[in-house]
Amino acid sequence: MESMGQNEEHPASYEITLPQRTLLVLCGSAGCGKSTFASQVLKQQRPPLQPTAIVSSDHCRAIICDDENNQQVNRDTFDLFYYIIHKRMFQNRFTIADSTALQLETRQRLLGLGKRHYYTTCILIFNIEEQLCIQRDSQRQRTVGSQVIAYHSGLLQEAMREIPGEGWDQVHVLTAERQASVRFL
Ligand code: CTP
Ligand code: MG
Repeated sequence: MESMGQNEEHPASYEITLPQRTLLVLCGSAGCGKSTFASQVLKQQRPPLQPTAIVSSDHCRAIICDDENNQQVNRDTFDLFYYIIHKRMFQNRFTIADSTALQLETRQRLLGLGKRHYYTTCILIFNIEEQLCIQRDSQRQRTVGSQVIAYHSGLLQEAMREIPGEGWDQVHVLTAERQASVRFL
């Protein structure tokens, strides 16, 4: 584990250094800024990375049923999500897994895929206050609502306790005050 938690010696924004063969897993509530962060990572590179480096569970859901919010198709959505990630790893492609990753099962699947392909596994926890997620959610086009975010906040507390012992190569915690950028080795 490379870093965990707040460290006063770290500047407000710091750089995460990764090999190309990395599975970067985003973890946090709806509305915390995962997808926004993922597109920033693409733009931070020269030349910028293709949007296909981001594998999003919402996008997989839409591919299956034309509706990013349909929770009835979770199983097929995640089958597709893991499948695409698995196939990208055969091609040695850097991949960002954009889902909440708040469930232990999701994290175990992603970690297992990474290990199977001898990828570096890096998880980024978005420790963003519930109220800020609700506010951000309410101001965007697709909203999930405060009840879902309250549920996610509970799962996030549990995830923060569990993740350090799960076996990730790198664990980073981002907050509203502590931003990060990604650079390749
Ligand atoms: N946002 C913001 N400031 C940030 C990050 C995000 O204002 N530092 C805004 C985004 O512009 C967006 C909203 O907050 O309107 C939610 O961000 P998003 O990246 O969509 O959140 P996700 O974590 O991807 O939410 P979900 O799990 O529902 O996809
Ligand atoms: Mg998103």
